[in-house]
Amino acid sequence: MKVIVVKSNQDLAEKAYEHIVAVMESKKEVTLGLATGGSPVGIYELFRKNKPRSAHVTTINLDEYIGLAPTHEQSYRQFMNKQLFETVEFKETFVPNGTATDLQKACDDYEEIVAKHPIDLQLLGIGQNGHIAFNEPGTSFTSKTHVVQLTSSTINANSRYFEKEEDVPTTAITMGIGTILKAKEILLIASGKNKAEAIKQMLEGDVTEACPASILREHPNVTIILDEEAASLCGSLKDRQTV
Ligand code: GLP
Repeated sequence: MKVIVVKSNQDLAEKAYEHIVAVMESKKEVTLGLATGGSPVGIYELFRKNKPRSAHVTTINLDEYIGLAPTHEQSYRQFMNKQLFETVEFKETFVPNGTATDLQKACDDYEEIVAKHPIDLQLLGIGQNGHIAFNEPGTSFTSKTHVVQLTSSTINANSRYFEKEEDVPTTAITMGIGTILKAKEILLIASGKNKAEAIKQMLEGDVTEACPASILREHPNVTIILDEEAASLCGSLKDRQTV
């Protein structure tokens, strides 16, 4: 696992963007696993500004709220359309279907999509409780795409995007941890003090289902890019040069 600590959120976005574009340029056909939330916004801004060659790239998103139509302002499909897909052209883009009548089938279909398009690089954020995608603490490390009940910590953190907390969906479809771990390479980004405890648990705590992100320590090809605040509680990063 490679850990890079940068000074600012802008530096983080630039480093991560360069990393992603290098993977996009490495092969004729590429699949990127993409994430939503505030963390990747700076990266997507660089995509919109630089418009890298991307028509050979398929994208697969991690998760979607259940009950929000793809046109709903806060659905992850809509987030991705606005942040990226309306400006940058990809070969195909996949986001789980949160309004499917048969949710189990939607999960199984998504698992098949991932199997058909093995992910070359998976971009991840991290929740304040150590969740990755919507895999809350306690989720099995071997889980596949499934329906989840969101924790109050996640609902509260994500309520900043909604008018009121009651508007935040309480369930979602998410790629499982086992699904995520199949990616050939993983890039996790985190910034800000509110992520520092989760980063400490991920890097220095036990590898345990209580901290979903901790399993990344056992994946063979992971890069973590942190700003100084997110890295601030990690003793093991104290002497590391910030880049
Ligand atoms: C959400 C998403 C995750 C994301 C996390 C952190 O719950 N499902 O994929 O990593 O929140 O979000 P943010 O980057 O806004 O802090």
